[in-house]
Amino acid sequence: MKIYLYRKLILSLLLLVVSSSLVSAQEEQDIETKIDQILSQLTLEEKVKLCHAQSKFSVPGVARLGIPELWMSDGPHGVRAEISWDSWKHAGWTNDSCTAFPALTALASTFNPALSREFGVAIGEEARYRHKDVLLGPGVNIYRTPLNGRNFEYMGEDPFLASTMVVPYIHGVQQNKVAACVKHYALNNQEVLRNEIDVVVDKRALHEIYLPAFKAAVVQGKVWSIMGAYNKYEGVYCCENKSLNIDILKRKWGFDGVVISDWAAAHSTKGSALYGLDIEMGTGTNGLTTSVANSYDSYYLATPLLKMLQNGQIEESVVNDKARRVLRLMMRTTMVPNRPYGSKGSKAHFDVARKVAEEGMILLRNQNNTLPIDEKSNIKIAVIGQNAVKKMTLGGGSSELKAIHEISPLQGIKDAFPEATVTHTFGYTAGETVYDVLTYPKENQDSLAMVAINQAKEADMVIFVGGLNKNYQQDCENGDRTGYNLPYNQDQLIENIANVNSNVVVVLVSGNAVAMPWRSDVKAIVQAWYSGSETGSALGNILSGKVNPSGKLPITFPKQLDDSPAHTFGKQGYPGIAKKVYYKEGILVGYRWFDTKKIDPLYCFGYGLSYTNFKMDKIHSDRKSYDKEDVITVKGEIENTGKVSGSEVIQVYVEDVKSSVLKPLQELKGFKKIKLNPLEKKTFQIKIPVSSLNYYDADNEKWVVESGRYRLRVGTSSRDIIKNIYVEVK
Ligand code: NOJ
Repeated sequence: MKIYLYRKLILSLLLLVVSSSLVSAQEEQDIETKIDQILSQLTLEEKVKLCHAQSKFSVPGVARLGIPELWMSDGPHGVRAEISWDSWKHAGWTNDSCTAFPALTALASTFNPALSREFGVAIGEEARYRHKDVLLGPGVNIYRTPLNGRNFEYMGEDPFLASTMVVPYIHGVQQNKVAACVKHYALNNQEVLRNEIDVVVDKRALHEIYLPAFKAAVVQGKVWSIMGAYNKYEGVYCCENKSLNIDILKRKWGFDGVVISDWAAAHSTKGSALYGLDIEMGTGTNGLTTSVANSYDSYYLATPLLKMLQNGQIEESVVNDKARRVLRLMMRTTMVPNRPYGSKGSKAHFDVARKVAEEGMILLRNQNNTLPIDEKSNIKIAVIGQNAVKKMTLGGGSSELKAIHEISPLQGIKDAFPEATVTHTFGYTAGETVYDVLTYPKENQDSLAMVAINQAKEADMVIFVGGLNKNYQQDCENGDRTGYNLPYNQDQLIENIANVNSNVVVVLVSGNAVAMPWRSDVKAIVQAWYSGSETGSALGNILSGKVNPSGKLPITFPKQLDDSPAHTFGKQGYPGIAKKVYYKEGILVGYRWFDTKKIDPLYCFGYGLSYTNFKMDKIHSDRKSYDKEDVITVKGEIENTGKVSGSEVIQVYVEDVKSSVLKPLQELKGFKKIKLNPLEKKTFQIKIPVSSLNYYDADNEKWVVESGRYRLRVGTSSRDIIKNIYVEVK
């Protein structure tokens, strides 16, 4: 009887799966039929109107046929406050605040794809609630240099990690019938000269390093829109780049969504029309403050396109394809009957924000188990640093947010240690940026430092909360950092503090790696990223041990800037010469460079400490030899041997022992995050398709898996390898 019931259950589940996929295929067919019907009723003018903005963030529908407008919003850490119809000024609404989720570097540091999905669901609900149809994010440009002002909006330096994390984010957003818009396609790896720089990169690096996360977003994530970047590739602007948009994106990857230009990234009618752009946004403004009234009709994909269609210079099939894609996007979003309403600022959303913040923060150093601090301790804590109180959801460019609340690190520390005496002083100030020039009075800095050092002398412990911020030339759009050291003389300040207090904890609030000349003089270091609304509560929980840190670095921290690949080749490598930047390091980006060239980093990719210890055992592969279609399974046991529960990220890097082409020493090909109670032991399995051990053969434009020996390096960071397993690929 029981068996019969089980059978029946399995059968009906199977039917459900099959029928749901059938229904969706049917639904897709229905959508295309409807689009055909709509297209047949549209005038040429109406089709053209679908291909460009009617305001800063919207595209007209077709009112005559009841087809609604399409509304977009930044992205990618929360739903941005309303921007005016025709200028970059805030519209001044009172109902446009949001939950500020952590920045994407923090999300990547969680190494937790399930959490990425929760992030996507929650931000998608907020977008929906705010009547947004396209969320302008996530960003997946690869971290190439620590100076890039927008690294905080991206998911680190590794294409496999970024790919694994971006897919669930997209699924989460789009389940709300809101489109994600993956950006910035492609090679937008610096902000300096972003509007004109031409990226010279070899095909292998393009396909192996810079494109995989976009490909995953399209092929696995089934993303509905993608944003064309500002820069050029092969001398051609990305939004008009045939090879990127037509050959790779639309043909090879089968992208059926919409290519949206970054704001003012389109540069010609013919190029945009013929080479892949579907919706033109932001043209006719300087991208910051000014806009010509009613300039929308003069967009490249507006009247000029209409004229070229009318006089036969461009075939109607071109605009038909664009209109079809835009209508498809609308059928997936604005025109879905019974769309979910979404929600905003719910407890559930703040919980997701806090979870990501907690799992994303990274314990980089912890001498003498300085952390966690006992929550009942009644010590004197001197909190020093402007970032203890500076709102980090403001600034940074388009990812700025009007957060419903943002708990500061200082508040978080006070709440976490109610018995302690907590003081705060700035120690330094970021000064003011006026017309892109940073100014601050020198005397002011000196006196701030003096007060801080005096407070440090009196305290049992110093928690220095500094780092970068969202000002221009820090972690901010449209400019890069000008150096690798901490700004505003913080390095000196930390040294001076460490000279008078031997118990210093440094909390770095930043979206980028920074130099740490003071590292050995401080007891503990926490990389806290920009963690959004719940920054303070998450930090308090980490410092008090309520939450055991489990974040891992999605980037390498070089000891010095010159060690990093983009900076090894002088100006050609960064920021470029004569408007061309040469990615001379090729495929050796991030840890691929440091490992292959045997350069010791300050902190390596995948690194992060815990308050407990883990022991791994019995690590092996399911077989010794595989065919190219097989999947390798790495198995093992992991035990929490400490006294508190915690999570470890088991990472599998693969080395091609003898390759006919240059390969990095090792590449991340699988990982798994496992949570364990004290003394708990679990088994784990990590699957690695043999096909993923491939390289891109640029001459023949194909992916190749070489036969031979591979070494699977299993560990807890790229430099903490616990077990090597050799396997053979036939
Ligand atoms: C320019 C930024 O590069 C992009 O990320 C953003 O979505 C648009 N501006 C709209 O604000």
